[in-house]
Amino acid sequence: MTHSRIVGTGGYLPPRVVTNDDLAKRLDTSDAWIRERTGIAQRHIADESQTTSDLALEASRRALEAAGVRAAELDLIVLATSTPDYVFPSSACLLQAKLGVKGCPAFDVQAVCSGFVYALATADSFIRSGAYRRALVVGAEVFSRILDWNDRSTCVLFGDGAGAVVLAAGERPGIHASVLHADGSHANILAVPGNICGGRIEGSPYLQMQGSQVFKFAVRVLDEVARETLAAAGMTIGDVDWLVAHQANARILDATAKKLGLPPERMVVTVSHHGNTSAASVPLALDECVRAGRIRAGHRVLMEGVGGGFTWGAVLATL
Ligand code: ACO
Repeated sequence: MTHSRIVGTGGYLPPRVVTNDDLAKRLDTSDAWIRERTGIAQRHIADESQTTSDLALEASRRALEAAGVRAAELDLIVLATSTPDYVFPSSACLLQAKLGVKGCPAFDVQAVCSGFVYALATADSFIRSGAYRRALVVGAEVFSRILDWNDRSTCVLFGDGAGAVVLAAGERPGIHASVLHADGSHANILAVPGNICGGRIEGSPYLQMQGSQVFKFAVRVLDEVARETLAAAGMTIGDVDWLVAHQANARILDATAKKLGLPPERMVVTVSHHGNTSAASVPLALDECVRAGRIRAGHRVLMEGVGGGFTWGAVLATL
């Protein structure tokens, strides 16, 4: 039986750092409020000239280098984003061109902050089916472009960045189990409810959110889907070395770890210095820990996402 395995990780953060104090200079907010409610101290913001596919390219190059795989050897590219370069073509196609390759299928996945987990589960299915042997899976966002920078209740939460993994066919898992869910009846609690129509923007081009409803929903489903994924793999939380959950808010992460009975030192926290980078948050957090030597070959990692839609899901993998 064919399995898929993560054989390389990469990440990219744009160089410009915006601290809470920077925001407090132009908004009615404070470093203390943002830290206490969210755990966020700073975020990276892309330069105006940088697009999602540019960020994705940097993360992808690093993941390919770590995997020892050439772009020409890829037979699938899946890119998760809610802030694509264009309406079309997909950012995955633009990334493919920037990587200097052609021919392999390339497409975007739109599941907001669950996007990377959705993309990883999709690529895993293709590899397990025998259709492809090497996939590039990317989460990349320029969320700063869809924020109202005068709305203190949303703009302080997010940042830009990209993370990527190379997934390869192998004899052993690799990915043990994945579970995905969606419930579109909650579309209104987190959305950018706008569209381009006849040359104009219809609706709003900015992110809108019912913060406390999102908070409660996220904590509930991150707990439920973790248990469901562990059960599907025939494992328990005691078998997990690291929880790499979507980095939305440190309080959501703390509450999730507590509900799951996971010791806090096994939970990865990067939201403090990345902010919420939506689809990029899980692969960026994974890459940071791999490069720091915290997550190593043989470690078992539970990756979880939750985001607008609502969508949520988890992937359990041994590195
Ligand atoms: N600085 C100072 N005050 C603020 C700020 C700010 N940046 N933002 C809101 N406030 C004020 C509000 O106006 C309100 O003032 P009022 O009482 O005078 O009306 C007060 O702070 C409390 O506001 P709440 O919204 O009740 O604050 P809460 O404790 O719920 O925290 C937060 C808000 C941080 C957004 C929280 O609800 C949360 O973390 N929700 C989860 C949202 C999330 O993580 N979204 C990310 C996208 S979703 C995802 O990735 C899954």
